Amino acid sequence: MILGTEVESLWLFALLSKCKSLTPTNTIIFASLVMLSWLILNVVFWAHPGGPAWGKQHKWRISTKAATRPIPGPKGIPLVGSIQMMTGLAHRKIAAAAQSYGAKRLMAFSIGDTRAIVTCNPEVAKEILNSSTFSDRPANETAYHLMFNRSIGFAPYGVYWTALRKTAAAHLFCPKQVKASEQQRLEIAKQLVSVVASRSGRNVRIRDVLKLASLNNMMCSVFGRKYDVASSGEMETLKEMVDQGYELLGQLNWSDHLPFLAEFDFQKVRFRCSRLVPRVNRFVGRILAEHKAKTGSGDEINRDFVDVLLSLEGADRLSDSDMIAVLWEMIFRGTDTVAVLMEWIIARMVLHPEVQAKVHDELDKVVGRSRAVTEADLAELVYLTAVVKEVLRLHPPGPLLSWSRLSIRDSVVDGYHVPAGTTAMVNMWAIARDPQVWADPLKFDPHRFLGPNSDFSVLGSDLRLAPFGSGRRSCPGKTLGITTVSFWVASLLHEFQFVASDHKGVDLSEVLRLSCEMVNPLVVRARPRPKGLSTVFGRD
Ligand code: HEM
Repeated sequence: MILGTEVESLWLFALLSKCKSLTPTNTIIFASLVMLSWLILNVVFWAHPGGPAWGKQHKWRISTKAATRPIPGPKGIPLVGSIQMMTGLAHRKIAAAAQSYGAKRLMAFSIGDTRAIVTCNPEVAKEILNSSTFSDRPANETAYHLMFNRSIGFAPYGVYWTALRKTAAAHLFCPKQVKASEQQRLEIAKQLVSVVASRSGRNVRIRDVLKLASLNNMMCSVFGRKYDVASSGEMETLKEMVDQGYELLGQLNWSDHLPFLAEFDFQKVRFRCSRLVPRVNRFVGRILAEHKAKTGSGDEINRDFVDVLLSLEGADRLSDSDMIAVLWEMIFRGTDTVAVLMEWIIARMVLHPEVQAKVHDELDKVVGRSRAVTEADLAELVYLTAVVKEVLRLHPPGPLLSWSRLSIRDSVVDGYHVPAGTTAMVNMWAIARDPQVWADPLKFDPHRFLGPNSDFSVLGSDLRLAPFGSGRRSCPGKTLGITTVSFWVASLLHEFQFVASDHKGVDLSEVLRLSCEMVNPLVVRARPRPKGLSTVFGRD
């Protein structure tokens, strides 16, 4: 910025070496002056609203009114800006900062050298998420090293990403395909129920069972592989690889935002990625090879996603390494989100026994006690649907919508000029807890999604609650995710009453990794429900 490019600095030093008055004292004075100007410049950058990354790009100031009005926001610390805001419970820190700067609609801040904006307002969220300007994702070193730059979630906005989304939409996420995998979810629901039943009366760390069920489900859809929820072996290895990837991607990598740190890898991100990637390549590569060796690729409906990718031809055909990236991401994205959301739901059921009783009652009315729940019942389970929405409101698995967006061109957001290359975030957690948006927002009350609000969609059309994002880059797995969660929760609650374990209550403290999970895994007791419970539904 000060000296321009490296070539310019070399010129400057070459010129100085010709200078006769270049005594040691003058060199020291010169070096001190350079240092001082660098310090002054950094203080000037830092003094800009939003901090140093915003100060550095004041060249974009053009004559429009929007351009001259800076977006309010914290300056943070010189050089690093507000990078600490992205550590720990970032959604809470950002919401608090937006509140104190009166910048809930739009706040600017600096994550090191990264210029960022964030909104805690549904209208501005719509403006950002539904605009084609914000259809890209910011570069992320960890994603790059884990090959995710070739997967749907991190691929730059363009032809490759569009082709991948189309293929996945047509063969993995379309309603026909979601329906076709119903039997698979039913089998896993039975396994879930039997694992929990085998531990009835004892404490169960429900997260472990849910993660294995969810992983098993994704392995079936993506790789056509079936495991048993209670089994270990290959499943455990896979789960451990997914956990490692999750931890790596969920961690703030300082090198992404402070380029002068990039050489050092002091968080060992690059090192850990380099250990994980060959294992993933071997694992997924072996499954790819097995599929290639198969003769024929099965019927249209029962094909898994590997078969689909292998059947692509011509320009659509992916290289083996691209296929591994796409397949691995599906396992990765589809596993934790579902398990994390289910854990929050069961936690809320334990904390609010009166709500759990109503769900039980609804299940008894709609399903009865003589048969198991089916996915066809979900349409009639309106109270359970309201419970799932209420948990998504208070505990969205991606409070900052998981991954940010990147602006590909200059634009105006909420009347402010936002330059190309700005990282944009939506604080869905803050929107969902805003008293101006939701009445009595901290109260757990599924009734808010009943009656006239029963058709409130959480799939992205109403930004007051859009836990799957919105617009072109919204979650393609939303219908699959919500169907799986609702069906498995219904199956578990049909069979059990969940109560707190003897030693521990329910601790709603959060930890934000890639998803926002319970910091202390939920431990519960599952009591098998007696047949023919009396109905409490409709009492109030
Ligand atoms: C409860 C379950 C889930 C939640 C809460 C969730 C949430 C999200 C969110 C917030 C985003 C970012 C959206 C945006 O930028 O607007 C996202 C993206 C994505 N999700 Fe999900 N998700 C869930 C389940 C799934 C499942 C089951 C899959 C796949 C099997 C999946 C695959 C993806 C992919 C591939 C993307 C990246 C889309 C892109 O960049 O084009 N998700 N998800």
